[in-house]
Amino acid sequence: MEIHTSHGLHGEIEIPGDKSISHRSVMFGALAKGTTEITHFLQGADCLSTIGCFRAMGIEIENTPEKILVHGRGLHGLTAPAGTLDVGNSGTTTRLISGILSGQPFATTLSGDASLNSRPMKRIMEPLSLMGADIQSQNGNGCAPLQINHHLNPGSHPELKHIHYRSRVASAQVKSAVLLAGLYADGVTEVTEPTLSRNHTELMLNGFGANVITINHDDGSATASIQPCEELFARQIQVPGDISSAAYFIAAGLLVPNSELLIRNVGINPTRAGLLEVCRAMGADITYVNQTSASGEPTADLLVRSSSLHGTTVEGAIIPALIDEIPMIAVMAAFAEGTTVIKDAAELKVKETDRIKTTTEALLAMGADVVPTEDGMIIHGGNPLHGTDINSYLDHRIAMAFSIAGLAAAGTTTIQDSRCVDVSYPEFYKSLGALNQ
Ligand code: S3P
Repeated sequence: MEIHTSHGLHGEIEIPGDKSISHRSVMFGALAKGTTEITHFLQGADCLSTIGCFRAMGIEIENTPEKILVHGRGLHGLTAPAGTLDVGNSGTTTRLISGILSGQPFATTLSGDASLNSRPMKRIMEPLSLMGADIQSQNGNGCAPLQINHHLNPGSHPELKHIHYRSRVASAQVKSAVLLAGLYADGVTEVTEPTLSRNHTELMLNGFGANVITINHDDGSATASIQPCEELFARQIQVPGDISSAAYFIAAGLLVPNSELLIRNVGINPTRAGLLEVCRAMGADITYVNQTSASGEPTADLLVRSSSLHGTTVEGAIIPALIDEIPMIAVMAAFAEGTTVIKDAAELKVKETDRIKTTTEALLAMGADVVPTEDGMIIHGGNPLHGTDINSYLDHRIAMAFSIAGLAAAGTTTIQDSRCVDVSYPEFYKSLGALNQ
């Protein structure tokens, strides 16, 4: 994809459904009794991987342009898939489904693409094994393909032990895997994480009739606990717009001179909205209009105007609330006055790519002054950026962040393998084109 310097972005945009919430709506709908109706579902490749996995386990899912209907069969209604479950590029599918599969009366194998099959899975294998699951990395390297074995008579349900797990990382995927296995455990299962990560699983499971409680501790850590459950019950879910997708348009509106954008229906759950706090700290002009909520998740329309940004420090407890937005924040920092320090973000190394490496490589190629560190990067803003060839390394967030960089840079920017945006935002370039007239 070729991107040229923009002279202003104008208009309104409706952001596609939240990826994290879309995944969960299908998973929990499949485990519930009755038909769950989902509107504004994200039709990205990752969420379609989740749908494919549950169809393979006997769940009827109708996917129409208006809504998704998941005909759930209850907590014990999944059936053994005929072959390996294909999780594509999706870490969320892999890790959350592993928690569910640990409680099933059949064995399964999960595998994805090259990026997915190189991402760390020990972080879920450890707690699920402690609960009594037999979950193995086929190649012995702690990565997918994963095999979840079943040692009882066919059809007998494994008896999972409840645990109190202390996770070293603040990861909603780890927390959710343990909580979902906890639905099938013999007592109250608890997960403590060093700082609170996105809490969509907790909010939505309660909406389906489970009993999940969160306690925030004085030291910033948080414990979520779940009671084992008899049944979940189908419900309607309206998925809010994905703040991680809105991030690209927020940044575009701020960075491209003469811009004014109204970004509609953005999920602003505080465990996800760290980007907005960083924007405020950088001097961004963003107004919240129409604050409301969708299926228990707070939302707002955001009015964004071009702004002169200045550097800031991004560190500590806010990191999990903006982890996927860091490539975009780094680009904003390159256009800002002064220095931005991003730290405590070593998790960037185990995303779809090592995003410390891929982000700094692309910024350097465009002429920015950036230094990678062990757990983030230091960006000295203000160097004029110029267009060049950008290798996305098939990472959707790198492709989108540097497309926006290209709008604000001089000359032409070419994003290689830009179709990787299909993972989370298939309409990205079409929507961007409509605002960039
Ligand atoms: C997600 C959690 C985060 C995030 C990912 C989606 C989720 O990953 O980066 O894009 O839906 O739970 P981690 O839990 O590994 O931090």
